[in-house]
Amino acid sequence: MIQVTKRVEFCAAHRYANPRWSEEENRRVFGKCGNVHGHNYILEVTVEGEPSPDTGMVMDLKALKDLIIEAVVDRFDHKDLNQDVPYFKEKNPTPENLAVVIWELLEARLEGRQGHRLHRIRLHENGSFFVDYYGEHAGHAERI
Ligand code: NI
Repeated sequence: MIQVTKRVEFCAAHRYANPRWSEEENRRVFGKCGNVHGHNYILEVTVEGEPSPDTGMVMDLKALKDLIIEAVVDRFDHKDLNQDVPYFKEKNPTPENLAVVIWELLEARLEGRQGHRLHRIRLHENGSFFVDYYGEHAGHAERI
């Protein structure tokens, strides 16, 4: 098996809050993350498979890029994740939760394609923090 990775970028705003907590508790736990602010996210999508004998590729890179743009970038770029994404009405739009949502969006579109499968989502929130997700919680983000 060979793993190939495509990288894209998008910008989005978010804030963290737990509606079940007091304002003070929210401020204590989330600090400045409770204020609306933005990130320049870098998303790396890794697909695993065997290179096609016809093309030498695991997956057509243009097709992979188009799929990521349509499913993820067009949906989240320059959006307010709390306001604009129903899934984040109830969950904090952390990179952890965002990675699960992105997995669902991409896996649904890659399903049924021959010879390869989604392997990993790596989402960088900034230059020093990123999360990896391998689909363990797949099916948990049906309300996107
Ligand atoms: Ni943030």
